[in-house]
Amino acid sequence: MEKKITYGRFLHGGDYNPEQWLDRPDILKTDIEYFKKAHINTVSLGIFSWAVLEPREGEYHFEWLEEIVENLWKEGISTILATPSGARPKWLADKYPEVLRVNGNRERNLYGGRHNHCYTSPVYREKIQNLDRELSRRLGNHPGVILWHISNEFGGECHCPLCQEKFREWLKEKYHTIENLNDRWCTTFWSHRYESFDQVESPSPRGERELHALNLDWKRFVTDRTVDFLKAEAEALREGGSELPVTANLMYDYAGLDYKKFREALDIVSWDNYPGWHKKEEWLTAADSGMQHDLMRGIKKAPFLLMESCPSATNWKPINKLKKPGMLLAASLQAVAHGSDSVLYFQLRQSRGASEKFHGAVIDHYGGSDTRVFREVTEVGEVLEKIQEIAGSDVKCQAAVLYDRENDWALKDAQGPRNEDMHYQDCVLKQYRALREQGLNVDVISMEHELSDYRILAVPMAYLFKEGYEEKLRAYAEAGGTLVLSYWTGIVDETDRCFLGGTPYGLMEAAGLRSAEIDALFDWEQNYVIPEPDNHLGIRGTYVCRNLCELVELRDAEILMRYGDDFYQGYPALTHKACGKGHVYYVCADMEHDFYRDFFGKAAEEAGVRSEVEFVPEGVSVTLRETEAVQYLFLQNFSRKPETVAVPEGYEVLYGPNTDVLKPLQTRILKKRKEG
Ligand code: GLA
Ligand code: ZN
Repeated sequence: MEKKITYGRFLHGGDYNPEQWLDRPDILKTDIEYFKKAHINTVSLGIFSWAVLEPREGEYHFEWLEEIVENLWKEGISTILATPSGARPKWLADKYPEVLRVNGNRERNLYGGRHNHCYTSPVYREKIQNLDRELSRRLGNHPGVILWHISNEFGGECHCPLCQEKFREWLKEKYHTIENLNDRWCTTFWSHRYESFDQVESPSPRGERELHALNLDWKRFVTDRTVDFLKAEAEALREGGSELPVTANLMYDYAGLDYKKFREALDIVSWDNYPGWHKKEEWLTAADSGMQHDLMRGIKKAPFLLMESCPSATNWKPINKLKKPGMLLAASLQAVAHGSDSVLYFQLRQSRGASEKFHGAVIDHYGGSDTRVFREVTEVGEVLEKIQEIAGSDVKCQAAVLYDRENDWALKDAQGPRNEDMHYQDCVLKQYRALREQGLNVDVISMEHELSDYRILAVPMAYLFKEGYEEKLRAYAEAGGTLVLSYWTGIVDETDRCFLGGTPYGLMEAAGLRSAEIDALFDWEQNYVIPEPDNHLGIRGTYVCRNLCELVELRDAEILMRYGDDFYQGYPALTHKACGKGHVYYVCADMEHDFYRDFFGKAAEEAGVRSEVEFVPEGVSVTLRETEAVQYLFLQNFSRKPETVAVPEGYEVLYGPNTDVLKPLQTRILKKRKEG
């Protein structure tokens, strides 16, 4: 069991860039007063400070940072201290051009922007490690410093000669012989065989780009390289004498990296959440961001930190809408409900110039605390103090949805059956949301996760099976789990080679069918599915399906629904087969959300999965955190009208209105001692 990092309270605060205000001591002073007023107890420092910390090679200036950490600490405010590798000083790039990133066209970037460095470059590593070591020596044991924030939003890839070399080494280690690589990558197709590892190059828009296994391995390599870089920084911090935990701030649905591989390198996961509230119904946005919170929690199956969120409007979306009154609190408590032990913002004080001068902040250019945003931030701080006992508690789940990045990469790259959009994320989100609407906590997991905790497991569009995954799924169902498979599952192996002999690979017997063909629908087309009279789940509705319709050849599964239209009218659309002590369902088409809501309602009941709440009105989010002794039930109304949720037996109100009616955006937190 890994050590769980908790702080015994919720962290409230966020990114602070005092290096931009060193010539304004008056401002630095009022900032601290404002922080206290807003119940801010934590700031993140140093994220983009390299040029101020090391203005010339080897010349370090830490005094200003030490002074700020100390001043904050005197006022009871902790520091999350960042390593500044996310952006670099000009001297570094000028003197050592190898640190700059090379794109897929093999062009080296000019100096500028951020996140524009090579993860392999020995010089870049050496320079940042020197700085990290010094940072750790100077501040890594300061009582005010509580956590290392390594770099910033790791992302992107580099195709420089140094990275190519590392890629070849990585491949050699994985495949041992070039014959093996040729075989696994199917390079005989179009005569692309390699004679030695030295011939292999990263994918390029000017060259090899349709060798899917190469693309897939390159992406895996990029993740490994990034994690390796992260570890190199963490190592330097340790060498500097600090034993503090480390985190790195991850991003919303970021497809450039496979975050599950960060598990071991991070002591606690943190992430940056910027949902576009009010674009669609808040409940839909809440489901989407809820899924990401759950995915982040799932990386270590432990509480995480919300490292960044916007106190008002961002400035980088096409349209940057203000959060309506109450939205900030609801969104912040949603993060907490899903397992966050913090509500941190980007940013505490708005910068005066450059690209983020109009990004929302706790303190804006006006500079006063008498603003709507400041008041709402203060309210968040007050509420977090009131519910502080919840910090560190767990989120346990009886239901899970598979959302695997390697699968996502392979599925989108595959060429066919729909190249416009396979709607993978939509399909996962629909199933996630439908499970949440039953009032259940849901884990969002990868293929590596242990399954025995779950009573019900949705495996949508699991196109790629990692070695042995079919076995893991079958064993799960046999042991009593309810396994919900869908179309386009079990098609290829780890290197994107199609399975021979029928799909879903290794599960045809368990599902009682074979997938024979798949029809891709134009965007304007739809089909529908009708229930079989007397189907054992008692499904009565008729539902629309779109995008992808699989035609299965039935062996010995029960048909619950059939297609209503096209030449495959009457073909199975939803099937079931008992498997050991459990169940295997197979959803043949991309069904509308209402189908999933009704279907999971029945399947969860059959699986004996129950929510704390008897009836969950649409738009209400029900989430449970718990310790060994206590349960905390979060009820949040993300619909646009008042909704009523009765207090289940044994619960008392910890926070929120003293009535069962929740107004839009209102949250109620209930508490109950566990029996025994
Ligand atoms: C990201 C970055 C921050 C800032 C915000 C703006 O999350 O980590 O430095 O640019 O976006 O929303
Ligand atoms: Zn490189």
